[in-house]
Amino acid sequence: MINDKLPKIWYGGDYNPEQWGPEEWSEDDRMFKLAGIDVATINVFAWALLQPDEETYDFSTLDATMDRLYNNGVYVCLGTSTAAHPAWMAKKYPDVTRVDVQGRKRKFGGRHNSCPNSPTYRKYSTRIAGKLAERYKDHPALLIWHVSNEYGGYCYCENCAKAFRVWLKKRYKTIENLNKAWNTRFWGHTFYEWDEVVQPSELSEEWDGNRTNFQGISLDYRRFMSDSLLECYKLEHDEIKKYTPKIPITTNLMGTYPELDYFKWGKEMDVVSWDNYPSLDTPISFTAMSHDLMRGLRSGQPFMLMEQTPSQQNWQAYNSLKRPGVMRLWSYQAVARGADTVMFFQLRRSAGACEKYHGAVIEHVGHEHTRVFRECAELGRELQQLSDKLIDARTQAKVAIVYDWENRWATELSSGPTVALKYVDEVHKYYDALFQLNIEVDMVSVEEDFSKYDLVIAPVMYMVKPGFAKKTEDFVSSGGTFVTTFFSGIVNENDLVTLGGYPGELRSLLGIWAEEIDALFPDQKNRIVMKQPWGELQGEYDCGLLCDLIHSEGAEVLAEYGDDFYQGMPVLTRNRFGSGQAYYIASSPEESFLQGFLSNLCAEKGIKPLVLAGDGLESARRVKNGNAYLFLLNHNASPAEVQIGEIEQKDLLTNETVKGTVMVPARGVMILESKLD
Ligand code: GLA
Ligand code: ZN
Repeated sequence: MINDKLPKIWYGGDYNPEQWGPEEWSEDDRMFKLAGIDVATINVFAWALLQPDEETYDFSTLDATMDRLYNNGVYVCLGTSTAAHPAWMAKKYPDVTRVDVQGRKRKFGGRHNSCPNSPTYRKYSTRIAGKLAERYKDHPALLIWHVSNEYGGYCYCENCAKAFRVWLKKRYKTIENLNKAWNTRFWGHTFYEWDEVVQPSELSEEWDGNRTNFQGISLDYRRFMSDSLLECYKLEHDEIKKYTPKIPITTNLMGTYPELDYFKWGKEMDVVSWDNYPSLDTPISFTAMSHDLMRGLRSGQPFMLMEQTPSQQNWQAYNSLKRPGVMRLWSYQAVARGADTVMFFQLRRSAGACEKYHGAVIEHVGHEHTRVFRECAELGRELQQLSDKLIDARTQAKVAIVYDWENRWATELSSGPTVALKYVDEVHKYYDALFQLNIEVDMVSVEEDFSKYDLVIAPVMYMVKPGFAKKTEDFVSSGGTFVTTFFSGIVNENDLVTLGGYPGELRSLLGIWAEEIDALFPDQKNRIVMKQPWGELQGEYDCGLLCDLIHSEGAEVLAEYGDDFYQGMPVLTRNRFGSGQAYYIASSPEESFLQGFLSNLCAEKGIKPLVLAGDGLESARRVKNGNAYLFLLNHNASPAEVQIGEIEQKDLLTNETVKGTVMVPARGVMILESKLD
């Protein structure tokens, strides 16, 4: 349990009472009760109010808010306020503002704008975190700490340059090692002194975001920036722990956000939390994958849905309303996939600046007679009724998909073979196929223990880090099934090619050699032609993006390319290795191929779908104390028929008992309890 002071699914969200006065505060108290809100995230952007100058701290407003909320039955997720530094600090200590990738020194403005290696920022952010912890350590409202907010963005200032060199020295020990790792004889880059190394920005090696001359340098800068921001988090974290060792600490993450290596971050958090902002056209399975990924950061531990909008956003190009029922549906989607909280940004909609058109529980009209409020209040009642039933329940997937931020950086920084390769999209293709098949999946890091899974899929495993190949071989030889794809096994952790033939360290496991890699134009296709029908797969399927030209070195060839000069070369292979098997898919296939392929593998492994249902019906399951909780989420605008099997199950939201075929209402939700078999 995140904190047993509140043993239910926490319900609430970001609340900025400092933007309002007593009249609104008492209305807030009244309406929070009506909506069943029991947690408020406060003080996220209040640093300038708490610290009007270098030596003065003023906690009077925050004291009053903490007391008021507690007296009204609302607990607090307490922000440390360090996501936006005060204006006076930027004026007095210019080192707190960042230098951007184009080399421009930023002025005060915006948020998430502090240089992570600024001595001033580190000193004052740690100090205020400590002061808050000291002051509120015994406050009964305090549930959890929320350090800063959505860490992100990179800095290219001189302090960061210096810290980068220190980081490099720690990693490489000698300049010779660094030269080797970066292959600096290329374009005459040999470094003799550490201070010759400069950051890879648009003033040096990079352009257009992910384009770079030197992958090794750019990759290390991403690692370094992720670590630098994490260091800021840790400084506040450690300071807080001195005063409140038992209160959990989190910071809100952002799903597949590219810039930070969240698997590293997850290790430093008591509980993972994240902000979910899909747009109306985001695939449902993409949101599901993001939830599963956030759950994977701490190997399946339940997480917090820290933010979602009750209805509308403001920062997308087209900010659609969440249709009636959708906020509830998406809230349960989070819970189904491991969230133990449902929280919003924001509880009351601000009157000025760029988030005034962002949805809120309490809208500008100021009263409760709105569609959005009614929907929020209904959900609040349901979550009260669910009590602690689902808290701490886990998933039990037998299939894992490997996701790796460093691998993503490396594939996307790569100059060639194609600009069209998007790591996340390739991962999502595999996830989506399993999602459509109603098969449970865990999203895992390269470090995860594979032995608890029957099937491990590592799409585009371009970068193979030390130990990965061996561990995967062990997994397969003891009976596991492993799948990887084109453009895998190419480089080591420094983006240096593993010489001797692709897929490098994975070559003997896969029993193939990839001689060349063809890049296809967006409208170009090749074909996967099955040599003979295999389970759900028969005939031929489209493929594209990249085509590896592979030779079998012992692997069985299940399908061949249908076109071009490499027609007849293998495109799908299976290698028996010990008592397991390793598959290679040499190109990016169409969806129907992946569904057929993965349903074959699941059938072979005895991995069963949770339910049988049509499109738009999502299923997920959590288990706890010998009980299973099956979530049926109908994303369609019409009712959906679902076959749940012949065991009687109890719908937790209606208390009815059901079995066989059930109808889930349009945009409706069922949570079915049964004994775990
Ligand atoms: C993020 C931030 C919030 C708010 C919302 C708006 O998630 O954490 O402060 O800006 O976006 O969608
Ligand atoms: Zn900096």
